[in-house]
Amino acid sequence: MRFEGKVAVITGGARGLGSAFADAIVAEGAKVALLDVDEAEVGQTAGALEKQGFEALGLRCDVRDEHEVEAVVARVAERFGRIDFLINSAALHRRKYNQPFKFLPRDEVRALFDVNVMGILNCCLAVRPVMATNGGGSIVNLTSTAGHTSVTPYGVSKLAARGLTLALAGEFAEDEIRVNAVSPGFVGSAGSLAEYPKENLMSLLASQGVRLPESILARCSNRDLVDVFMSLQLTRREGRMDDIVKALLYLCSDDSGFVTGETLKVGGGSAAGF
Ligand SMILES: NC(=O)c1ccc[n+]([C@@H]2O[C@H](COP(=O)([O-])OP(=O)(O)OC[C@H]3O[C@@H](n4cnc5c(N)ncnc54)[C@H](O)[C@@H]3O)[C@@H](O)[C@H]2O)c1
Repeated sequence: MRFEGKVAVITGGARGLGSAFADAIVAEGAKVALLDVDEAEVGQTAGALEKQGFEALGLRCDVRDEHEVEAVVARVAERFGRIDFLINSAALHRRKYNQPFKFLPRDEVRALFDVNVMGILNCCLAVRPVMATNGGGSIVNLTSTAGHTSVTPYGVSKLAARGLTLALAGEFAEDEIRVNAVSPGFVGSAGSLAEYPKENLMSLLASQGVRLPESILARCSNRDLVDVFMSLQLTRREGRMDDIVKALLYLCSDDSGFVTGETLKVGGGSAAGF
């Protein structure tokens, strides 16, 4: 039990990668606080863990609101007595955020950066004093392979989150808090991708820095576009949730005690980007 007695706060914990990480870390002894703007679903996700005998708290929290974040973090500290890990998984990543900036109204850009960048900052600043009192901790921010190409608003928000990771690693080091990021590639099957509307596939390709000319796009089937997307990966298999979860567990564990300020790409070696 690597994480016995430890406490993890997970934003965006209602579903997806946040919830998959919660399943994995409670199985290794940790208690979890799941924070999400979706109050009903976060309650259900935490409730399901409690039914299995794990200690889990599901709390409504909008990461954009620094005061709400501070109040929720105080509740977690009061209930569990400490915070060792923060996983910042909450994000906006809908299709519209992968179109060029000129098509995205300015208030949508602001909303995107408010969650994907300011949300991370709010949560990191709120947990820092609690982590400091128990001698340190580990923070992991979910970025994206799209943040290594950064040709879309979503990619730029993830690139900014990588920059924030580096800056906060420097600032938090005096409190023995490590700050790293994991950039997942696409997690899901090629089969499920082929069901996506063509527009979504084009947007996914754009997030990886690939913009095909209209003349070629018109001749491509959905399956062709999925093949192009998959060919950007060097590893010849589909990405799975547990590929990402294992990287998050590593960055929380003492095995990564000498690692801070880093971004680990977990995208099957997606070739594009920096
Ligand atoms: N799944 C992938 O293939 C993939 C690929 C690359 C990067 N990522 C990144 O990994 C992270 C998790 O992705 P996912 O697929 O699990 O996403 P998801 O959409 O399944 O879950 C994100 C959660 O964040 C919550 N959320 C959104 N705005 C919020 C706010 N203001 N305050 C609090 N919670 C809020 C949502 O309610 C949702 O439960 C994200 O940062 C995403 O950008 C995912």
